[in-house]
Amino acid sequence: MEHLEKIIDDKIQGKALVTENKKDNTKKLFIESYGCQMNMNDSEIVAAILDKEGYNTTQILEEADLVLVNTCSIREKAETTVRKRLQKYNRVKQESNKNMKVGVLGCMAERLKEKFLEEEKIVDLVVGPDAYKDLPNLLEEVHEGRDAVNVILSKDETYGDISPVRLNTNGVTAFVSITRGCDNMCTFCVVPFTRGRERSRDPKSILEEIQSMVDKNYKEITLLGQNVDSYLWFGGGLKKDFKKATEMQKATAIGFAELLNMCAENFPKTRFRFSTSNPQDMHLDVIHVMAKHKNICKYLHLPVQSGSNAMLKAMNRQHTREEYMELVDNIFKIVPEMSLSQDMIVGFCGETEQDHKDTLELMEYVKYDFGFMFSYSERPGTLAGNKMEDDVPFEVKKRRLQEIIDLQQEHALYRTQQHLGKTEEFLIEGTSKKNPNEWKGRNTQNTVAVFAKGDYKLGDFVMVKVEDCTSATLKGTVIGYSDNN
Ligand code: SAH
Ligand code: F3S
Repeated sequence: MEHLEKIIDDKIQGKALVTENKKDNTKKLFIESYGCQMNMNDSEIVAAILDKEGYNTTQILEEADLVLVNTCSIREKAETTVRKRLQKYNRVKQESNKNMKVGVLGCMAERLKEKFLEEEKIVDLVVGPDAYKDLPNLLEEVHEGRDAVNVILSKDETYGDISPVRLNTNGVTAFVSITRGCDNMCTFCVVPFTRGRERSRDPKSILEEIQSMVDKNYKEITLLGQNVDSYLWFGGGLKKDFKKATEMQKATAIGFAELLNMCAENFPKTRFRFSTSNPQDMHLDVIHVMAKHKNICKYLHLPVQSGSNAMLKAMNRQHTREEYMELVDNIFKIVPEMSLSQDMIVGFCGETEQDHKDTLELMEYVKYDFGFMFSYSERPGTLAGNKMEDDVPFEVKKRRLQEIIDLQQEHALYRTQQHLGKTEEFLIEGTSKKNPNEWKGRNTQNTVAVFAKGDYKLGDFVMVKVEDCTSATLKGTVIGYSDNN
């Protein structure tokens, strides 16, 4: 339970994001980020753009010249959280920081557009996910006393030319975005509307960014996209326009398996992860690339949303339960030690008790290592929001959610127990939250272990003998460095 709560908590909690200050910068930026890792990475891009405008980051709201909140629209609760934060900014502005300017970024900005300015008087600036390069101009308008809005979605913006300023970094793990937007149109999901159509980033700029991270001694890179398996570089533009590409572009196009292979080969000492894989776009060539390289972590986030064919169809997921199970079988055949995680939605429109049982049964079949589970939250503007009835009562959603959380808990424990007695490689990422004398690190399967610090340092790859576990965490003893150092 602790593990799941932590995950859910991390997903909705905002934090002031900070980095080292520069002497020449005179203005102060307070920035926080809600929602997915992509948003977090976007906030790092925004910080890089504003660094050039003379802004240092701060954790103190009362001293900020500019407050930016990078928002999430995925569920209603995410939006309510942001509205509460705006009230807090408002109080600080009234009480102690009259001149501070407030901007909203991200998915809520894109969804609500100018309406934000009417609904929340505190807001001076509304900027959608593809318009961050316009921030310097927009800020100029704000300083001249006008509200400023740019929510234009782009055909080819990937921010490939911007080197993100790493915020709240542990100096060991970092995210690199490889695609933006999503073309999948799952009926419940607001992302295609707020982040636009799918486009991929130039592989050259991806490799350059990774090189710069490796030069700074980062040890693990997570490649990010709404749907990474659908990565396709053919010279720029929207993925849907690939049909119109020239023969030459088609012949030299690079897909996700190739990109992943290039990353693993170019940086043999760096660990790679990626997220998220959509089962409909995941091909076994990616699994073969994973099998080939020790430095690609054996962990797949493979959201299924439901175990019922009727629900998958209503959600416009392009596969059946049986196809998903076959995919999972094939993955385990190629990489037996693979760890898998899911996203599940309970209580989607029309979900019956039998549909719910199908979900529990699918979970039993896969026995996921980790899970991210949600009650369906109707989103305005989506197909489900417009055309389907949100007809599963709150109490039923709540009970079903608890049932899948409990089952996931059992499976997580089953999975962590499989590590007992083994000696595995862990990358030290930080100090354990519970014990300052212990490090925490993750193995290739993304399972967290805690162990006594000894003489080991942040960023070391160490071999740990696993001696004990809960459903969320392994406990062990370091027996030495791994050969990856
Ligand atoms: N492809 C994306 C999915 C983004 S949304 C990715 O990179 O992770 C993350 C998860 O939120 C989805 O997989 C889904 O389980 C959940 N979700 C999306 N819309 C939702 C809604 N309207 N109600 C409840 N959960 C939702
Ligand atoms: Fe959303 Fe489905 Fe894309 S969940 S982000 S529309 S893959």
